[in-house]
Amino acid sequence: MKNSSFILVLLGAAVLFIAFRWAYSSDSSKEEPEKVTCSSTIEDIMTRTSVRSYSDKKVAKETVDTLLRAAMAAPTAMNKQPWRFVVIEKRELLDSIAAKFKSMTMAAKAPLAVVMCGDMIAAIEGEGREYWVQDVSAASENLLLAAHAVGLGAVWCGIYPIAERVNYFSKMLELSDNIVPMACICIGYPEGINQPKDKWKPEYVHYNSWQ
Ligand SMILES: Cc1cc2nc3c(=O)[nH]c(=O)nc-3n(C[C@H](O)[C@H](O)[C@H](O)COP(=O)(O)O)c2cc1C
Repeated sequence: MKNSSFILVLLGAAVLFIAFRWAYSSDSSKEEPEKVTCSSTIEDIMTRTSVRSYSDKKVAKETVDTLLRAAMAAPTAMNKQPWRFVVIEKRELLDSIAAKFKSMTMAAKAPLAVVMCGDMIAAIEGEGREYWVQDVSAASENLLLAAHAVGLGAVWCGIYPIAERVNYFSKMLELSDNIVPMACICIGYPEGINQPKDKWKPEYVHYNSWQ
């Protein structure tokens, strides 16, 4: 085959290919309905549950770092990142938390807990100040999900805004005045089976207006 004929055949094939692609991409009636793929992120969100019972297995320092990195990847208002973290590993501190608060007895079995705090100096000034709670909460949820993703179990125990809890943790951890403890997340390798709850309620969802 001559060179010129070969180029013509090649050009013809290219034109046919482009026309075919165009016809199929521009005809919306031929489009398949959008599929909602279930990534492992969605899977982790749907299977996370509060874990209050832990085995004796220690949590490696690198794993704790992974959890803290995940926490600090959360969004914050004006990117202020007003979160601060106190990792508790000392047995006597964990035991004293469990003894003091009925709702935190799991701390006695947990190999560690992370106290999620807000720094009032780093927080937004003025009307947006209380956003710090949402910022630290976003970090807390990230930490819970990361814990679940690496095979740990964790539970968020509320501190702020309960004055007795805030005072207790502030004193125990010798926090400076600008640091407010918001939650104590107990963490460990799960013992037993922990089933996630199905909380899906379509009636809680409204579109465009409450009506
Ligand atoms: C702000 C807040 C405070 C919580 N405080 C406690 C607590 O003090 N003790 C506890 O065992 N669980 C506590 N939890 C965990 C909830 O009880 C738990 O998330 C809820 O029952 C839903 O269960 P799930 O996490 O397995 O989906 C708290 C959760 C949040 C978000």
